[in-house]
Amino acid sequence: MIRELKISELSILDNGILQKDTVLQEFKVNPFSHYIVYIDNNHKVIGYLYYSDIYNRIEINQFEIDFIHRNCGIGKKMLKFLTDSVDKSITLEVNVNNKSAIHLYKKFGFVKVAVRKGYYNGVDGILMERSEKMNDIYILGIESSCDETSVSIVKNGTEEISTIISSQIDIHKNYGGVVPEIASREHVKNITFVIEECLESANMKMEDMDAIAVTYGPGLIGSLLIGLEASKTLAYLYQKPLIPVHHIAGHIYANSLEKEMEFPLIALVVSGGHTELIKMGNHFQFEKLGGTLDDAVGECYDKVARVIGLEYPGGPKIDKLASMGKVTYSLPVPLKDNSYNFSFSGLKSAVINLNHKLKQRGEEIRKEDLAASFQNAAVNSLVSKTKKALEDYHVNRLIVAGGVAANKVLREAISQMCEEINVELTIPELKYCTDNGTMIAAAGYYAYRLGRRADLYLNSKSSDTLK
Ligand code: KG4
Ligand code: ZN
Repeated sequence: MIRELKISELSILDNGILQKDTVLQEFKVNPFSHYIVYIDNNHKVIGYLYYSDIYNRIEINQFEIDFIHRNCGIGKKMLKFLTDSVDKSITLEVNVNNKSAIHLYKKFGFVKVAVRKGYYNGVDGILMERSEKMNDIYILGIESSCDETSVSIVKNGTEEISTIISSQIDIHKNYGGVVPEIASREHVKNITFVIEECLESANMKMEDMDAIAVTYGPGLIGSLLIGLEASKTLAYLYQKPLIPVHHIAGHIYANSLEKEMEFPLIALVVSGGHTELIKMGNHFQFEKLGGTLDDAVGECYDKVARVIGLEYPGGPKIDKLASMGKVTYSLPVPLKDNSYNFSFSGLKSAVINLNHKLKQRGEEIRKEDLAASFQNAAVNSLVSKTKKALEDYHVNRLIVAGGVAANKVLREAISQMCEEINVELTIPELKYCTDNGTMIAAAGYYAYRLGRRADLYLNSKSSDTLK
């Protein structure tokens, strides 16, 4: 596995080709130093690339691979790791007689810019440079955390090449919600076909992919495992880097398909399992400002829908029904306080109680009006807390993420609020709001460029903090 060496993990250098003392010394005297290391299955460092990141350029100072592991593609993989993570020009010196190294550098776009006479004990050195232009990077994204098997190819984190989504809604709606065991079995049936179809419709092969990004959690453990095992198998078979993606990071990065993300920003995450306000200072820097104290908003939509007799998933059905109704029933506005937290269980209970009371009294329930009244209370809460966070933190960019971002009234209310306080708003296109592989590939791209990698021991997690 290839990764950037952290000063906290120098013990992995024991018995490898790179000396711990040398690295410590370099870190001390050169504040610009970075080491990329290649670690074999015995946890031994068998290759390293030492470079300096100096303001607007990268200088490769040393690049060495253990003698017995040369000529088997390790150098190429390490150079790819570096060139795919940085968008600055890169310079290096190479011995004029080292033909194979020069050949490799040329393949990566390095050109000869000068000769350094007698640089290597009397032998000439060649100074080579590669411009900052990035290669196009194609990420295969795999999502299977709940009831959608989805695979997508995204170019450079922003351009969708192809996406296939196999939805299980028609099966689970017979049970009024997702049945985990059935979901896992459906993923098993579908995953290889979805991968094949995605590659076919893009007219690409696995060999064309730069990395495989996969949702490792949170979600249904059995469902997650299917996507994960498929990803690991592909990563092993095709020797591609494996990028672990947190499902909510995926939802957030669905926005990069609309517009490249700029920071700082605030993200309102509204899905079936999450309702959170998050501040991002940069890519993958998440600071949670607040979240739901009980039910997630999507979960609440689904439960309310069930109470008024709508099919699973209830969110879109309430959305549609509410557009035909009026806000006539009085319901509590959830958690009207000074925090950035939310609470939806009180609202849910109020709808259940109201429905029950009306039924007992034999009064007609105007389902459209109840849906509109519920939605009005839920959306008001989301919009007011989001507004407060934007104002308190003086942030003028907002993104909305997750399945409930598809909600029509929420989209309208949030865009009106953003207009009023002059905040730039990005919301994903409807098809990228609910679960899909596109968002995982997009998030995977930025994670890839940050050097995030997983090994084949990567496991699925039913819950995990956003990272
Ligand atoms: O993000 P998502 O696809 O899955 C999770 O990660 O949870 O979100 C699914 C949730 C469900 O609760 C669904 O009812 C809700 O998003 N949802 C909606 C709408 N479309 C999906 N809620 C309200 N209005 C919608 N149009
Ligand atoms: Zn989701």
